[in-house]
Amino acid sequence: MKKSASWRSPSNIALVKYWGKYPKQIPANPSISFTLNDCYTETEVILDDKKTDATFSFEVILDGETKPDFAPKIEKFFNQIVDEAPFLKEFHFTIKTHNSFPHSSGIASSASGMSALALCLLSLKEEIAGKKEDDFYRKASEWARLGSGSASRSVYGGLVEWGRFAGMPESNDEFAVPFTGKVHEVFKTFCDYVLLVEVGAKSVSSTAGHGLMNNHPFAERRFLQAHENLEKLTEILASGDLAAFGNLVESEALTLHAMMMTSDPSFILMKPNTVHIIERIREHRKETGTPVYFTLDAGANVHVLFPATAEQKVKSFVDSELKQYLKDGRYICDRVGQGPEFV
Ligand code: PMV
Repeated sequence: MKKSASWRSPSNIALVKYWGKYPKQIPANPSISFTLNDCYTETEVILDDKKTDATFSFEVILDGETKPDFAPKIEKFFNQIVDEAPFLKEFHFTIKTHNSFPHSSGIASSASGMSALALCLLSLKEEIAGKKEDDFYRKASEWARLGSGSASRSVYGGLVEWGRFAGMPESNDEFAVPFTGKVHEVFKTFCDYVLLVEVGAKSVSSTAGHGLMNNHPFAERRFLQAHENLEKLTEILASGDLAAFGNLVESEALTLHAMMMTSDPSFILMKPNTVHIIERIREHRKETGTPVYFTLDAGANVHVLFPATAEQKVKSFVDSELKQYLKDGRYICDRVGQGPEFV
């Protein structure tokens, strides 16, 4: 019996960052992100009769190449959802996957990759059971979360919230939900240019990074601050106040890095060129009034955020002034997207 399911799922960029977690991938604080459009993973899962006795039998093929090094992460993921998906033990799985963004570009593929895989497996579960899930995306988000926390936010388009937060009664630690607050038009078409300062593997894995928040001297205050910032951002998203948006989002990015700089052991994940870019963005904003802001992931690359109406100006600013700081002058132009698609 051969069956297959195929999904394209985007990456996302957090505005209020998830950093720190409890067992079972429960976040220590709520977070919110923009789902992206052009940075995505496309995955096809083909299920076939099983030929070995192994608990799980699967292979991962990235762009036509078998990847045995992905096995531990996939096996761990299968183990986490197998109680709800007993068919994982009954078949052989071929997982064919492709990222739209270049290999080793420094773009985290775990959010797009794990959400695409969760969506495929849930589609297969429905097909095998001959029964629709009550809430397909909610379950997909829950499964994606078990694969990688931030992946829970990639199953919806636009602004997505994950983690219990008093300002949104429908929020939950176990799955993400589309942001239900009012959203000003300007944020519905926001752009994100990903500037590649450094390519290759990150020096701190995100699992190790979250672990650094255990016994961190500033952890409790930081977790509280994320709630406060989410509350402030809820108002900002409704009002369309770009200056307040930039102020909050930049502070969130720097706080994420400050947490790593003050952990034990400590890490500096920014590179000198990251700091040059941040300084140039702030100066440029002052000099020209262009509403252009930055955020960072747990790495050296810079996400440049701006409203679609400023795109031409920002593109020429990036080309003329920021490109010199980038690895081979490379950057990726992205924007807010609509969420995953069944292919
Ligand atoms: O999903 P993880 O475990 O890779 O954690 C990602 C954490 C950040 O990207 C730094 C922040 C976030 O909220 O996405």
